[in-house]
Amino acid sequence: MAVLLHLPAGLIIRVTLLELMRHKHSAYMHWSKTQSRARFNLATSGVTPFPLRELPVNLEELEINGDDSYGYAPLQQAIAAHHGVDPECVVESAGTSMANHLAMAAVLEPGDEVLIEQPAYGPILDVAHYLRANVRRFRRTEENGWAIDPKEVLGCITPKTRLIVITNLHNPTSALTPESVLREIGDIARSIGALVLVDEVYLDAVYEDTPRTSFHLGPEFVVTSSLTKVYGVSGLRCGWILAQPDLAWKMCRLNDLYSATPVYPGELLSVAAFKHLDLLRERARRIVDADRKLLRDFLTQQSTFSAVWTDWGTTSFVQLRNGNADRFLERLHAKFDTSAVPGRFFEMPDHFRIGMGVNTEMFAEGLNRIERALASATTRQVSIIL
Ligand SMILES: Cc1ncc(COP(=O)(O)O)c(C=O)c1O
Repeated sequence: MAVLLHLPAGLIIRVTLLELMRHKHSAYMHWSKTQSRARFNLATSGVTPFPLRELPVNLEELEINGDDSYGYAPLQQAIAAHHGVDPECVVESAGTSMANHLAMAAVLEPGDEVLIEQPAYGPILDVAHYLRANVRRFRRTEENGWAIDPKEVLGCITPKTRLIVITNLHNPTSALTPESVLREIGDIARSIGALVLVDEVYLDAVYEDTPRTSFHLGPEFVVTSSLTKVYGVSGLRCGWILAQPDLAWKMCRLNDLYSATPVYPGELLSVAAFKHLDLLRERARRIVDADRKLLRDFLTQQSTFSAVWTDWGTTSFVQLRNGNADRFLERLHAKFDTSAVPGRFFEMPDHFRIGMGVNTEMFAEGLNRIERALASATTRQVSIIL
């Protein structure tokens, strides 16, 4: 259905109702919550849950209410110390999801241009659309190892670009962007008065020599992260933004619209988690490493699949050569009780994302079932099913 808008100076434009409606959902998040589960679940991105009983914490000291209007000071300090930044630059948030939302909403006005990597984590695009930003994309290509090419970014910015958004590690591919490239992106942003938002929720899954946060690279960098993916404590929803103090304060004020105060018991447990971060990370790392080895062997043996290899990260983005991954995954789910994330959620329907780090026995059987799903089709059926 279309409506006519009468603007000043007698201007009339015709728009569909769909165009007038604000984007208010995330197809990926909905799929993830309702359809991603299977007995052999390779549709994950975070590691195995860390059990409360293994967290060295005195539960008698847990409280329900406390002083945390704009964040709980010990947690702000723990986050600041983790990154080596001033606590004034830290904004607590409900996971990286809310961190990304607050960061984008604080920077972008309707009609502002935001330049987002492609492929991208769906909800980042959804938030940008929800904020009525003008979304532009720059490509990361498989041929280039999914790396960010600063020339590509340069070619896509305009004087109206307010924000450049990337993930590091990249979701879905786990590609790592080195500091030298981040600096180039920062220079590009600075040249037009824009900011760079770096979602670093997977960065600590670079287990050897984890790079420091890009927040240290200059005032144009805004960083989001959380304890949800690499540390196995997603339920705490402990997320944060690193931003220059003025912008950080703007985000705190904006967050007043969404939640009065954070969840105090969650903050107490998050402080305890920060005290034992190595314990949390190492526990999951053993599983991630074992799964990665299995995946490597699997991909070496299978010519039907290919992936750009990384020695870090909790996800791998696999291409189904000459096939339709959607149809393959539907069959894999229905007949083999095994799931992975369809590449259509990353605008690449011939790919799918595999998650590591939950349970190695389950992972091995999941890969085995992927192999069986392929093999069970006759040569003629393969062309139909794939
Ligand atoms: C790149 C990226 N950012 C943010 C999130 C959401 O993280 P959180 O669970 O901390 O809200 C995800 C979840 O998959 C993600 O992949």
